[in-house]
Amino acid sequence: MTEFPPDDPHALLRDRLGDRPVVLVGLMGSGKSSIGRRLAGRLDLPFVDADGEIEKAAGRTVSDLFAQFGEQAFRDGERRVIQRLLDEGPAVLATGGGAYIDPRTRDSVKRRAVSLWLRAELDVLVDRTARRDTRPLLKDGDPRTILSDLIDRRYPIYAEADMVIDTGRETPDITTDRALDALIRHLDPRPATETPPS
Ligand code: S3P
Repeated sequence: MTEFPPDDPHALLRDRLGDRPVVLVGLMGSGKSSIGRRLAGRLDLPFVDADGEIEKAAGRTVSDLFAQFGEQAFRDGERRVIQRLLDEGPAVLATGGGAYIDPRTRDSVKRRAVSLWLRAELDVLVDRTARRDTRPLLKDGDPRTILSDLIDRRYPIYAEADMVIDTGRETPDITTDRALDALIRHLDPRPATETPPS
């Protein structure tokens, strides 16, 4: 049996993850990048932001990709980049809000990663997305109406993720604690019924 140094409490989690990345999914403003970066730090794994990788690969910002080539071209690039990132081994990977909605990407995430949905209420998403104007989907219309519509359409699909945690106005460190707890439970090899009550 592997022995884990007591000063590395998350070695067991990394061991159980094996070569699977942790993939964060959820709507714009749910905190995928901010929580992903913190979670990666706690687990001592690399953090990768899928939109950032798409921008590097394309040599353009997400906004420019939408404006110059349209959403479909962005989605095709997004799918290819995420397929590559899923093969790059253990990491915490923050995906753009539409990535997990693509059936092929969703299928690959299910097969090759463990996924965590950051679920947030509309008010929280509206407030957080108002801080940046770089999101093409929120530029044409009222952001609250658009986000509300995306909640209706996407939440049933994000619900297919392996884990879900709620995120609101608590500090990012508290949300990160919840994410770690969810991972610990999800990766526990014992059947749920055998887990002693806490
Ligand atoms: C999108 C979300 C964005 C970005 C693109 C499309 C979406 O990422 O990928 O603007 O379809 O929800 P964030 O969720 O990181 O804002």
